[in-house]
Amino acid sequence: MADVFDERVAAWRADLGRGVGKVWPELAADEREVLADRLVSHAREGYDARPDDLRALDAKRLTEPDWFQRSDMLGYAAYADRFGETLSGVGDHASYLRDLGVTYLHLMPLLTTRPAPNDGGYAVVDYRTVRPDLGDTDDLRALTTTLRDHGISLCLDLVLNHVAREHPWAEAARAGDRDKRGYFHVHADRVMPDAYEATLPEVFPDFAPGNFTWDDDLDGWVWTTFHDYQWDLDWSNPDVVCEFAEIICHLANLGVEVLRLDAIAFLWKRLGTACQNQPEVHELTRLLRTVVRMACPAVLFKAEAIVGPADLPPYLGVGEHAGRVSDLAYHNGLMVQLWSMLATWEVSLASGALQALPQPPSTTSWLTYARCHDDIGWAIDDTDAWRAGLEGAAHRRFLSDWYAGTHPGSWARGLVFQDNPAAGDRRISGSLASLAGLEAGDPGAIARILLIHAVMLGFGGLPVLWMGDELGLLNDVGWADDPAHAGDNRWVHRPRMPWRHGEPDVPAEREQITEGLKQLARTRAGLPHLHAAHPTEIWDPRDPGVLLVVRRAPEGPLLMAANVTDEERWVTDDVLHWLDLHTPGLYDALGAAVPKLHDGAVRLAPYQVAWLHHRSGTGTG
Ligand code: GLC
Repeated sequence: MADVFDERVAAWRADLGRGVGKVWPELAADEREVLADRLVSHAREGYDARPDDLRALDAKRLTEPDWFQRSDMLGYAAYADRFGETLSGVGDHASYLRDLGVTYLHLMPLLTTRPAPNDGGYAVVDYRTVRPDLGDTDDLRALTTTLRDHGISLCLDLVLNHVAREHPWAEAARAGDRDKRGYFHVHADRVMPDAYEATLPEVFPDFAPGNFTWDDDLDGWVWTTFHDYQWDLDWSNPDVVCEFAEIICHLANLGVEVLRLDAIAFLWKRLGTACQNQPEVHELTRLLRTVVRMACPAVLFKAEAIVGPADLPPYLGVGEHAGRVSDLAYHNGLMVQLWSMLATWEVSLASGALQALPQPPSTTSWLTYARCHDDIGWAIDDTDAWRAGLEGAAHRRFLSDWYAGTHPGSWARGLVFQDNPAAGDRRISGSLASLAGLEAGDPGAIARILLIHAVMLGFGGLPVLWMGDELGLLNDVGWADDPAHAGDNRWVHRPRMPWRHGEPDVPAEREQITEGLKQLARTRAGLPHLHAAHPTEIWDPRDPGVLLVVRRAPEGPLLMAANVTDEERWVTDDVLHWLDLHTPGLYDALGAAVPKLHDGAVRLAPYQVAWLHHRSGTGTG
């Protein structure tokens, strides 16, 4: 009798065969079948080893596949050690997260890494064990169970573009193992590296210039997009793909529900290109996602592709990949535009840029965020800027100066990260509160912090808070004290949670910020309009300082109007009219009030965000 696994194979095996053919067109038909069968057998092993409670979760998720799109989902991202010291310590704070409204927790890399420096954990030496200072595999399994009992799904990084130079594959390659050397991109001389470099950007020009590193043991140049100790894997090698199919099943069977595909854009290298966003990246994602559908269908993929707006949509699937690649993807564009709007008091650039993005497939979701553990790179498209009457490079320069706090009048207190004058790239580190003006004591700071979150939560998608932002934590003044961190100022916005009194100083405004966020999350949870499956429409601004975002839902439209200025602004009557948001019944869910109309328009106080919808006669919003 066919078991559940066989049924899944019957449904998905052809998709694997198709993908293998796309990635390795040079393989003969029978070789392709062998490779597809290898992937099925990894899935079978994963399925066989899957604990009963997780099989039950698979069944549950398959009956409600939109679970992660619902408006009561709220994410939180943190370093395990900085949040809870250990994995069991994180579990001890599950109620704290629940109380905030959190249903999804992304813990930063916690698998065994090389000793520092290790890029905050992104240099893995063993995908099957946990960093010893955090606990062990049993602790990880216990944590996923505790979190699930609290209604929280755990997301972990799958660092798949590279491994540490000390990973056993790299060790073996260095010891002369030909097979394992084939897991990496190694070149005996500079001919190919130089040819690639001609079109490659640099990710960390300050502390890791170039994309190749000479290694004496290898007697060759190895591809290292990030640091010299992070060796890029050669994903054109089917063995690498199979290794990760196994790793994915292993993590899934510990109860991990979402895998963050770290630096996914860089997976495939092609001469003469920037070696990012190549079509094979999406084919490979789809192959691995199909393995997951067979072995552990409760698991989701989240694409970490911090790329320009034109390259972003394929990560959620366009054309034949729709609904077949990642389920979630960071909305880097919204993040950048949020900060751009606040610095300029203007929404036309943001509106145009956001309008240019196609709707993602209705089974997927953007992940909306304002800060994360990384720097902010000013991914403003030149055409979008031009349409808004701006010059791209000049605007990016302005944003760097504004958020570094060097532009006259700036209330931001960020640090410049990776200044690359040749490329015109000057990124910014800093905590959300410090970038929003709280450190400088600007009177608009709290309102700005709440606005940022209101837009994140009202946009549609899965909003994810960055650890400490719910307390308004400022830049960590001691970020460089740890010698392993001193060269990387992203640690300025990775402070420890101040559970213990006085460590670090929590701003006096903490209460206001935390309560404001909780209220936002509660309000959002009650609004079905914010389910991620509904399309998000960005309307042309009427008032140049008010961003207009419309969510079309069966319950009726919801209009988010965000005043990004510190002046009184308006939502004009034509907008309300077009959306049929008439009185009586017009309601602002955020203000929990019926807005008073002035000549038919809704007044917005400085930095006010309104979530306007039509409340039916039953009175429940
Ligand atoms: C991702 C991570 C970043 C890390 C890089 C290399 O972009 O977010 O922190 O440096 O990948 O793994």
